[in-house]
Amino acid sequence: MQIQDLPNGAKWVPKYLDRTEQEALVEEIRQIAKESPLFIPKMPKTGKPMSVRMTNCGPLGWVTTKERGYRYQATHPETGKPWPEIPKVLLDLWKTLADYPHQPQACLVNFYESSAKMGLHQDKDEEDFAAPVISISLGDTCLFRIGGESRRDPTKSFKLESGDIMLLTGKSRMAFHGVDRIYPGTSTLLKQEGRINLTLRRVGGSGV
Ligand code: SIN
Ligand code: FE2
Repeated sequence: MQIQDLPNGAKWVPKYLDRTEQEALVEEIRQIAKESPLFIPKMPKTGKPMSVRMTNCGPLGWVTTKERGYRYQATHPETGKPWPEIPKVLLDLWKTLADYPHQPQACLVNFYESSAKMGLHQDKDEEDFAAPVISISLGDTCLFRIGGESRRDPTKSFKLESGDIMLLTGKSRMAFHGVDRIYPGTSTLLKQEGRINLTLRRVGGSGV
C-alpha cells in the first residue's frame, strides 16, 4: 500500500482496491441502491437540485432538502425505510485505515453522471471531527480539488481513479474539497459512464 501525503495531513492511497474488489463492491452498491433508491438532493433554501444522485447505507444517512437543509437521519427521505447496512468490506477498510476506535455510522453513496460535479465545501454536519472521513472512488476518473480550512486558501487538483482512497484526517478533516469534473469513459468498471464515490463518516460523539 502506497500512501501519498497531501497538504494539511490529507492522505491519498492510489489503487487501494484491486479490480476484483472493486467489482464486488459495485455489486454491493447495486443491491443497496435497489433497496434504497438514489434520490436527487436539493440545496437548502434555493431548492436547486444537485447534479449528483445519492443514497446511503449505515445507521445514519446524509440528506438535504430545501426545507430542512443538511442533516443526518436514520431513514430514506422518500421510502421512509432504514438505510441498508454498511458492507463488511467497507467496515474492514475503515478498521485498517481510520485509526479510530469506533465504526463508521454513515456511508454516503454519490453517483456522478458524466456531467456531474460537486462544488467546494467542507464536511461539517457531523459532531465528531476527531474521526477521519474516508472516501472511495469507483468508475470513471475525476478531477478532485482540495484546499485548506478557509474557502480562500489555495487548492490543489489531482485525478482520483477507480479504487483510490482519500483520507481527510488531521487538519484536512475540515478542508474545503470538491469535484470539478468527471472524465467519461476512463473506466470500464460500471455498466454506464460515470463515477461512484463512497464516504464513510462518524456522525456523533465517540461511543455512539
Ligand atoms: C464529497 O465530498 O461528498 C464527495 C467527494 C468525491 O466525490 O470525491
Ligand atoms: Fe465532502
